[in-house]
Amino acid sequence: MTDLDTNDLDTTGPTATGPTATGLDAAVAALESARRTTLALTDADDAELTAQHSPLMSPLVWDLAHVGQQEEHWLLQAADPDRTPVFHPAVACLYDAFEHPRATRTRLPLLDATASRRALAEVRGRVLDALERAERTSPGSTRFSAGMVAQHEFQHDETMLATHGLRTGAPLLTATPTPPGRPVRPDAVLVPAGPFPLGADPVAEPWALDNELPQHLVHVPAFRIGRVPVTNGEWAAFVEAGGYDEPRLWSPAGWAHRVAAGLRAPLSWEPDGAGWWTHRRFGVVRAVDPAEPVQHVDFHEAQAYARWAGARLPTEVEWEKACAWDPAAGRRRRWPWGEAPATAERANLGGTALGPAQVGAYPAGASAHGVEQMIGDVWEWTTSGFEPWPGFSPMLYDTYSAPFFGGDYRVLRGGSWATAAAAVRPSFRNWDHPVRRQVFTGLRLAWDA
Ligand SMILES: [Fe+2]
Repeated sequence: MTDLDTNDLDTTGPTATGPTATGLDAAVAALESARRTTLALTDADDAELTAQHSPLMSPLVWDLAHVGQQEEHWLLQAADPDRTPVFHPAVACLYDAFEHPRATRTRLPLLDATASRRALAEVRGRVLDALERAERTSPGSTRFSAGMVAQHEFQHDETMLATHGLRTGAPLLTATPTPPGRPVRPDAVLVPAGPFPLGADPVAEPWALDNELPQHLVHVPAFRIGRVPVTNGEWAAFVEAGGYDEPRLWSPAGWAHRVAAGLRAPLSWEPDGAGWWTHRRFGVVRAVDPAEPVQHVDFHEAQAYARWAGARLPTEVEWEKACAWDPAAGRRRRWPWGEAPATAERANLGGTALGPAQVGAYPAGASAHGVEQMIGDVWEWTTSGFEPWPGFSPMLYDTYSAPFFGGDYRVLRGGSWATAAAAVRPSFRNWDHPVRRQVFTGLRLAWDA
């Protein structure tokens, strides 16, 4: 078996600045960065790549070919529908995420890893040629679609990291260190009432996806929000206080799921026999770090914790305002800390850490309101269902958001340690079922002011 070394993962390189670099260069750099990560995460033997590590996840070899199939679909098909396809339609349909649920994908006649890598390289070669041609004849015409496809591949890289996280075999990935935490008062920061331009400015964020648009003014009542995410240490206190045994803390649906699924603690937590906890992360069992943000909790658990703590979860609108609004300047910031790019001193992004950093690790990443670690570390559950902003119109990839509006989803914000800098923004909206916890999910508390 080939060892994977996440030092090879390259999601904080030239794309860390996101799409503000001019022209097509930023999109091409993002495509190349995402591909290096994809190949590093699938640099393993066939048995590893074709295994169903969890019914919640695809075999890694499916994700591998899917990113190439989608790249061909979005960047080649429209420009030249009569070309000889790399992914023949009979093969391409195996990689349709709507047709084939994740649990069934190992039963499909998928391309093997070697054929998948060959197809990816062939598609990429043709795409680079096509993008260059398009830029000459119609400058700017393909920059969004190329950025969209790069973000799609980055999203699958995070999904593949979630698959790696659920593996039970010997470790395949090694973590790179994050900055140490520092003592931070776990207090609540006041965000005064007032107007806020919600959603992405498409000029500042040319890769904003359809559900982040259009930007529109909202009035947000005053609220308070946790300065840092909820930690493992705080979560352990909730467990020890009987939080998982007290139905009054849970919504009816949450309690029914708690009982049916037998939830007792975050995913993979086990008592260590000495009054504390261990968890398994990427094949390594170790003591739970009380200073790290809790991860792998579902929405129902997050909601019960918040009730126990005398708080609630934020709405996604509150979350975005606490993240991006600069009250002194009276405008949004591109990142919580300002306009400067995401770096290893400002946020834990890019997938190499294999886990969140301790709270207090990123004072340079604080928002104008002083809220820390909003971008990176853990996706944060909000109370909001996934709905379109007023005036929504679907993008080129028209089934990215629209089929999911109004469903049984809750919005997650801020990205995780496994998210690429080029694939997250303060306006970025993720969504998932309220029972999901294999994703790198945590929470931050909020209160009415
Ligand atoms: Fe996909």
